[in-house]
Amino acid sequence: MTYKLQLQELEKKFGSKSVLNRLSLDVEEGEFMVVLGPSGMGKSTLLRTVVGIEPLDGGKIVVDGEDVTRLPPHKRNIAMVFQNYALYPNMNVYKNIAFPLKMIGESRDVIDKKVNEIAGTLKIADALHQNVTTLSGGQKQRVALARALVRNPKLFLLDEPLSNLDARVRYDARQELRKLQQELGHTFIYVTHDQTEAQSLADRVAVLHNGSVEQIGPYDDLYERPETTWVGSFIGEYPMNIIDGSVIGREGSQIGFRPSWVNEGNDGIQLTVQLCQAAESGFFIMSTMDGKSITIRVQKRHKIGSTMKFSLRRYNVYTDNRLVEEFGK
Ligand SMILES: Nc1ncnc2c1ncn2[C@@H]1O[C@H](COP(=O)(O)OP(=O)(O)O)[C@@H](O)[C@H]1O
Ligand SMILES: [Mg+2]
Repeated sequence: MTYKLQLQELEKKFGSKSVLNRLSLDVEEGEFMVVLGPSGMGKSTLLRTVVGIEPLDGGKIVVDGEDVTRLPPHKRNIAMVFQNYALYPNMNVYKNIAFPLKMIGESRDVIDKKVNEIAGTLKIADALHQNVTTLSGGQKQRVALARALVRNPKLFLLDEPLSNLDARVRYDARQELRKLQQELGHTFIYVTHDQTEAQSLADRVAVLHNGSVEQIGPYDDLYERPETTWVGSFIGEYPMNIIDGSVIGREGSQIGFRPSWVNEGNDGIQLTVQLCQAAESGFFIMSTMDGKSITIRVQKRHKIGSTMKFSLRRYNVYTDNRLVEEFGK
């Protein structure tokens, strides 16, 4: 297997605070990799070290088999779209997109051809002579993307590029971005704190925790088979329920189950309904068990204050925060 990008045991500290902690990650050619983690987890720092504007304290970055760890940013041929877009406010759209080509000394004709091409692809051809300060959020995002794409680099890093857009525009931009990446066949590393983006964009998702990748795989795998309680709690619209308990004859001291992995019935675990929320796929019942909040999904509506019973159709067993076994179907 040849990888487009290999990150090997990256280390980064700010003072005594370790932000990247032996972080390793391999990204395949043409892959849409989403790095997912809550804010403050080091996502931007990770991208900044890969593009070369933040020095590393340790580790190795390999692009197309070449060790680029000590190369300056302009020799890495990696493009980055920053969260705030970082457009040049005193230039119009055309000049913003043309800028990276001008920096590498492309001719006027080549620049003109490439700028028009990418502006067409991203549907901003009409705005080429507008000043960037007059653009909407969605248009700014396209210009930032166009500026990154125009150079045809080896790798694209995108730092939460949709987070400044309002919900409707964000939804459309997400679809377009995924389509564009598939059409062009580029390798994308996209960081976000937003699970919906991870779910809808990623070929694979790398979950960041404590400075390294805690689990990597297609979103559905992370959802169905979280390998740690942390991933189980972080992934999903509702966190996985994690309760103290053990299964007779099995290792492990905690049991994890998704709200939808239960059956309502006449026996099993009893709980008191504290909230009942209607959803597309039934009703979510919220309650507490041993002082911990718990959510299950059932088919029937229940009155607040009533009691009900459920059994587990499927569950995971964890020990020392690691998944040891998975049961049921
Ligand atoms: N230049 C810096 N100097 C000191 N601390 C920093 C610097 N950049 C980032 N940090 C710290 O590193 C941690 C990770 O930041 P960041 O990479 O921006 O996280 P994310 O992008 O996941 O929100 C945060 O605690 C942040 O305060
Ligand atoms: Mg960030």
